[in-house]
Amino acid sequence: MDSLIKEIANLKKAFSEALKKTNSIEELEKIRVSFLGRKGQIASLMSKLKALSLEDKKVAGPLLNSLKTECDAAFEQKHQEISQKGFAQKQAKKEYFDVTAYKPQADPASLHPLTLVQEHVNDIFISMGFEIADGPEVETDYYNFEALNIPKDHPAREMVDTFWLDIPGLLLRTHTSSIQIHSMERQKAPIALAAPGRAYRHEATDASHDFLFMQTEGLLVDENISMSHLLATAREFFSAVFETKAFELRIRPSYFPFVEPGIEIDVECPFCNHGCSVCQQTKWIEAGGAGLVHPNVLEACGIDAKRYSGFAFGLGLTRLAMLKYGINDVRLLHSGNIEFLKQF
Ligand code: DAH
Repeated sequence: MDSLIKEIANLKKAFSEALKKTNSIEELEKIRVSFLGRKGQIASLMSKLKALSLEDKKVAGPLLNSLKTECDAAFEQKHQEISQKGFAQKQAKKEYFDVTAYKPQADPASLHPLTLVQEHVNDIFISMGFEIADGPEVETDYYNFEALNIPKDHPAREMVDTFWLDIPGLLLRTHTSSIQIHSMERQKAPIALAAPGRAYRHEATDASHDFLFMQTEGLLVDENISMSHLLATAREFFSAVFETKAFELRIRPSYFPFVEPGIEIDVECPFCNHGCSVCQQTKWIEAGGAGLVHPNVLEACGIDAKRYSGFAFGLGLTRLAMLKYGINDVRLLHSGNIEFLKQF
């Protein structure tokens, strides 16, 4: 019995010494297993109780119990101390983190290909004396159709599928031509403007069609403006875009209600001689629609059509971006795909 009491005292001492020396959670765990574990030293002392007499049990039992609770409590306290110290150390390390040693690994930001093309095209027009104009993407029937000589029952309304808003008479503009009207209402002739912006069509999408695309509208109104001004401007513009003068323009008659006559302009493919994937083996690239502003449009904006005439054109900026960067699926442009965007 005496020896058991001695053992209890020794164990207590050994346990508190072991705790004192410990500085890590790993060591602490070893101590826990050795002393407090199911097969540990305290458990083995407890198992000796069974063999004692009732008298001795009355003395040794409480001693062993308090040994167990004291050791548990001491262990718990030490555990907390060590964890707190570790946390404080981690915090201290953070505080002394050397920001000057940081080497940025982030990819530098870059401009979207449509923005790049838009800025390039704007610069070309500005260098030719055009102003850059803007207009709303949510339009009224009047600006998108009516004032552009497309009255309500006009079959040209069927040429495009329109996104109508729930608010009657409002729509997402189907072309940037509506900006012509805003500008002519605001400004007196002479006018020379280029107006880049988004246009929307309620169409199924595929690799070459999206419901959202970018155009640049052009408008020049002055006295004695003729087709030759339009063609000279187109030639100048495309030689700046493609950085070569060695190409032909091809003019095809076409129909747009807001111009008369109306044409479509093709540019001889600057990338090949015999046909390539860019021009789809045709040697020509469709550049856009154009024409001489219809007198009805001038008059709708309060411009005297007897004195003034003008030309207008609509260029596909999205198409231009695809040509310039060899992008083969238009849907990539608004996909937000970071791997795609990183290339620009
Ligand atoms: N608005 C036409 C379209 O989106 C393009 C266009 C054609 C614009 C002829 C013009 C023009 O200014 O004169 O298809």
